[in-house]
Amino acid sequence: MGHYREAFDRARDDREEFWLAAADAVDWISPPTRALDDSAAPFYRWFPDGTLNTSYNALDRHVAAGAGDRTAMVWDSAMVGTVRSYTYAELLDEVSRFAGVLSANGVAAGDRVVIYLPMIPEAAIAMLACARVGAVHSVVFGGFAARELATRIDDAEPVAIVTASGGLEPGRAVEYLPIIAKALDLAASPPSTVIVKNRPEITGDASDHDGWLDWDDLMSAASPVGPTPVAATDPLYILYTSGTTGKPKGVVRDNGGHAVALTWSMPNIYDIRAGDVWWTASDVGWVVGHSYIVYGPLLAGATTVMYEGKPVGTPDAGAFWRVIADHGVNALFTAPTAIRAIRKADPEATELAKYDTSTLRTLFAAGERLDPDTFEWASATLGVPVVDHWWQTETGWAIAANLRGLEPMPIKAGSPTVPVPGYRVGVVDAEGAALGAGEEGSIVIELPLPPGTLTGLWRDEERFVKSYLSAFSGYYLTGDSGYLDDDGYVFVLGRSDDVINVAGHRLSTGSIEAVVAAHPAVAECAVIGIHDDLKGQRPSGYVVLKAGADIDPDTLREELVAMVRNEIGAVATFRDVTVVAALPKTRSGKILRKTMRQIADHEEYAVPSTIEDPDVLADLAKQLGG
Ligand code: COA
Ligand code: AMP
Repeated sequence: MGHYREAFDRARDDREEFWLAAADAVDWISPPTRALDDSAAPFYRWFPDGTLNTSYNALDRHVAAGAGDRTAMVWDSAMVGTVRSYTYAELLDEVSRFAGVLSANGVAAGDRVVIYLPMIPEAAIAMLACARVGAVHSVVFGGFAARELATRIDDAEPVAIVTASGGLEPGRAVEYLPIIAKALDLAASPPSTVIVKNRPEITGDASDHDGWLDWDDLMSAASPVGPTPVAATDPLYILYTSGTTGKPKGVVRDNGGHAVALTWSMPNIYDIRAGDVWWTASDVGWVVGHSYIVYGPLLAGATTVMYEGKPVGTPDAGAFWRVIADHGVNALFTAPTAIRAIRKADPEATELAKYDTSTLRTLFAAGERLDPDTFEWASATLGVPVVDHWWQTETGWAIAANLRGLEPMPIKAGSPTVPVPGYRVGVVDAEGAALGAGEEGSIVIELPLPPGTLTGLWRDEERFVKSYLSAFSGYYLTGDSGYLDDDGYVFVLGRSDDVINVAGHRLSTGSIEAVVAAHPAVAECAVIGIHDDLKGQRPSGYVVLKAGADIDPDTLREELVAMVRNEIGAVATFRDVTVVAALPKTRSGKILRKTMRQIADHEEYAVPSTIEDPDVLADLAKQLGG
């Protein structure tokens, strides 16, 4: 562990020197003289006296260095059968002009812009254009329904929304404009500017709505604008993610720490450098898409592939292998669910033989645990290292990884390998006492977190402290449980809160419960995440009916599924509803979700000593066959 150990120790012991050296790889308008400002701990700020522009670092600097003809982005849509490439010079032109559109429509530095776009190039262009004018983007995943969008609008208070006529899912078009209209209706203070990219495949365009603006019209008349200098500590984006309550958390990312961390991560973690072809098969609506479809690869001067489609069914289980072959992809980053979906459809990988995937050097996986079975299959099938790494929306980049560029390490199935330099990972028990190797507990990270991690929650300092910093003083609570082994390898076993992970998508059981509880026949309910062979987990609802409620279980299920789809969105994939006589609770009234999950998953469980009525648990176990 030579290079790794040295880097890890330097990041811990010579923090200033380590991160200022990493900051040298970024082009600053005024370079930072200090790495960390810890004067207001536990609120930390990175590179407090630096100024820069993130879009300049992602685009202009490569053009200025003579790489304007290098391909910056390849858009490959399996949904419409189109491939479109942008050189760095072309992408810079698009971004500068859309930045001009934003400025002309009153978007200024510090203003928020909500981006609700499918996987089309305009998503990356809009994000980078916000960065160019110093505005703060907040991208909302297209699988969320109007109410979720409205909640985010109300929290971020954007001055503009950038959207498209819709997204394409296999077999159906998702029309965005009715969703936008409804969200604007629901929002307390809706923005006045709505910009719509018209997609000819999908019904609806700006002209259907009073005052909405057409992307193409605006772009044809736009004047390009240059990068606005911002402080390293100024926010680049807000990304909402699920917490334990129904209200999403607005994770705030800065400009300087983010640029430094992602620039460092590309060669050191992913072994990707200028000119390499990199593909992250995720969605711009998730943190993985922010960091590694858009910012990371462009900061590194690599070519990023943006893919609109699924791993299977668009048209078949060879879709990923085709994209690798067509674009000469050197490394692919995706979620384990995608690999499981391919394996399920094509267990012998017969599709793989049809394509030349010899450019592929590494497959990276994150978003959920890479189970050993899927790891073995992918390794044997692809014949390249399959590398798990662990991170969260909050951290923005990997907490634990096998650092392929710095020093590749032996891979252990089921482990994302070791803490990344800058992250001092520990495991503690309920009282905060450090646990030894092999002992399972809460995974925590010693403060300060490295650059690139969240600087707070949008306008909610109290929740930031309560959610992450107050459980164990001096530590950030990841919300994951797991252990470290004798070699210092991290093993992440799952969330220790009410957040669940469905197909690599992070969802809150609390928000699904809030919808289910609103049904007139439901007295109370619990939603838990149970094991799913394909998606890792899926939400499963248990409802107690109101006395005298007269509704048959199938009708109830249909109504609840429709309500969740309507209120949260298709991405919630809520399908299981079980009517039970009562919910098991502690004497203080807390629902025993963990025990319920163990019963539903047919795992061993212990009857908690605090249980209110043991018979309720016994009845549930009988009903669920546990
Ligand atoms: N816009 C609108 N609807 C969307 C959507 C989007 N961007 N993304 C997903 N949905 C819909 C799907 O169409 C589906 O709707 P349905 O209930 O009508 O079928 C529903 O949300 C659930 O989607 P999903 O859980 O993704 O299931 P799926 O059956 O469509 O696809 C996989 C299964 C495994 C192919 C898919 O989940 C996948 O590719 N996962 C990879 C995970 C990933 O990229 N994670 C990102 C974090 S790294
Ligand atoms: P998100 O914020 O959507 O990226 O989800 C973060 C959560 O996903 C983490 O807290 C983990 O529970 C889970 N997760 C992400 N990557 C991994 C991984 N490699 N192994 C295990 N769990 C993971």
